Amino acid sequence: MLEIAEQMKSLLEGVDYEISNLANASALIYASMDELNWAGFYILKGDKLLLGPFQGKIACTSIPVGKGVCGTAVAEDRTVVVDNVHEFKGHIACDSASNSEIVIPIHKDGKIYGVLDIDSVAFNRFSEADRAELEKCVAIIENSLKFN
Ligand code: SME
Repeated sequence: MLEIAEQMKSLLEGVDYEISNLANASALIYASMDELNWAGFYILKGDKLLLGPFQGKIACTSIPVGKGVCGTAVAEDRTVVVDNVHEFKGHIACDSASNSEIVIPIHKDGKIYGVLDIDSVAFNRFSEADRAELEKCVAIIENSLKFN
């Protein structure tokens, strides 16, 4: 797990097409962490988050800012870790197998570009170390967006 950011750096280096990068980034995270059932991106368009590249089951295509875990992470511009999604008011259940979730905002040109959203079948799946490593991954993704 702790090498995901290193691998992310090599994977995205020199690739200047954002859809390719987001697709491979979701595949890397999904393959590297256990007990996941979804890993992917939502992209901010106006006041909605729209589904981007992901790994996992079919997901909701549009989430209003301020709604669900993803919309809350955007409205508050911060990482949101939910140990038990059933206790999060307004959680949007795309896959009923999800029990915990982490959402990290992604920035481009000083504004929110979208979010990285990861769901797990386990409760309390995302530790402080996971959060730090995934925030490093997001910093690498943000850097790659400068070349798009
Ligand atoms: N659970 C999210 C919705 C997206 S799915 O997890 C892929 C939320 O509450 O924002």
